[in-house]
Amino acid sequence: MMTRLDFLKSAGFTGPALMALLTSCVNNEDTVVDALSLQAEVLPTTPVSTTDSSGTTTASTVKLVSPTAITSEALIKLTGVKLRIDLTLAANAALLAVRGYLVQNGMVVAQSSAGVIVAATQTCSHEPKRNVIFNKTEFYCTKHGARFSLTGAGLNNFGSGGLTIYKTATDGNTVIVY
Ligand code: FES
Repeated sequence: MMTRLDFLKSAGFTGPALMALLTSCVNNEDTVVDALSLQAEVLPTTPVSTTDSSGTTTASTVKLVSPTAITSEALIKLTGVKLRIDLTLAANAALLAVRGYLVQNGMVVAQSSAGVIVAATQTCSHEPKRNVIFNKTEFYCTKHGARFSLTGAGLNNFGSGGLTIYKTATDGNTVIVY
């Protein structure tokens, strides 16, 4: 963690530009996460994939072992489905890694711990920016540094408005956000 001042300095802001940024939206209690270390943390482990004759790429490690998994029959019966993610597609392989996440249809979907899938809106409550990502163990807005718990509670001043959280379910091959 570093202070906002440290972050802005490390990002190359000096003199008048730095002062303008500092006076625009500053609170000493708020911290931001170094974007580079954050990026390294969220890089997913990409499993080996195969591409069949029709051009469809399939991840070889396809089954999410989840303590909260439900049957495929129960998954199909869920209502109010906002997003359906096919874990057998290599494009969605980030979700197979603990702390990996995807951003789709304005939602951030992450594997927060082994087999546990969480989802939230990508739109921050501080300002309506689509800058929310998943960072280690919480949701995080890259715009000004708002932090939110997995249940959507604000963890600093910028995050005090909370974050909309969605329900999730999986049968190991598909993740449903609803
Ligand atoms: S828009 Fe300001 S912290 Fe998200």
